[in-house]
Amino acid sequence: MSTLTVTNSIIAQQELSRRLARRGKTIAIVPTMGALHEGHLSLIRYGLKKADVVVTTIFVNPTQFAPQEDLNRYPRDPQGDLKKIKQAGGQVVFMPSPKEMYPEAFETYVSVENLTRTLEGAARPTHFRGVTTIVAKLFNMVRPDIALFGMKDYQQAMVLKRMTTDLNWPIEFVIRPTIREKDGLALSSRNRFLSPDLRRQAPALYRSLKAARQMVRDGQTDASAVEAEMRRIIGQGAPVAVIDYIAFTEMESLKPVTVIGKDTVASLAARFGTVRLIDNLKIA
Ligand code: PAF
Repeated sequence: MSTLTVTNSIIAQQELSRRLARRGKTIAIVPTMGALHEGHLSLIRYGLKKADVVVTTIFVNPTQFAPQEDLNRYPRDPQGDLKKIKQAGGQVVFMPSPKEMYPEAFETYVSVENLTRTLEGAARPTHFRGVTTIVAKLFNMVRPDIALFGMKDYQQAMVLKRMTTDLNWPIEFVIRPTIREKDGLALSSRNRFLSPDLRRQAPALYRSLKAARQMVRDGQTDASAVEAEMRRIIGQGAPVAVIDYIAFTEMESLKPVTVIGKDTVASLAARFGTVRLIDNLKIA
């Protein structure tokens, strides 16, 4: 397939996926909410190495936004997105409508119980139920062999991996590294809302994560000492930032750790004015 095929209805996507499967083609899915950046495009490029066809989904999912979070403010650029996907070599884009995804009678949700209680789940209690529900629906529509997600949304990746295993989808679940700006800021659709001053301050988050990793490499195992140093670095480099949390968790289980050992991820969320940024780094 050299041209870009855009499907707008569920039935059209299901038929296309069935046709591809009948022809023996493997499918990789890259679920997105649009406003694509290099992080998404790197997933598409990686998907092309692993599968015959990459289906990028673009759907700004209302059920993962709480009422006070502004769904309407979420950036949208469908024409720009299509151009970028084509340039990256993606072959199919699935862009369903909210009405078809959530018809009036809709009332079935998918929830991952425990992994969703902490970190982002504590700050945004209804968020993950929306994410797991929409991704479950997209899996049923696209029927992928491989699913690609970024480590930038660390908890989301672990929650969706759990869901994929628990619900027995025969899908290879792939988590790819976070793509960053030159100064270390993790790429995110939200970065465009940072004023020049906030943008200058934001890389302090990654600096604090790198310092945490270095402390651990130098032998520090006490999470509270590492956290104190991270707070110092963020306070110095980003005085405007309001830290929601800094957490140290075991990679897959998301269990909090006080003594840093193998497979520990440091993750954080901080507000820069109205823009909430998250980031993480495996520090051991
Ligand atoms: O990471 C995102 O962009 C979204 O949470 C996802 C996985 C596409 C579900 O809407």
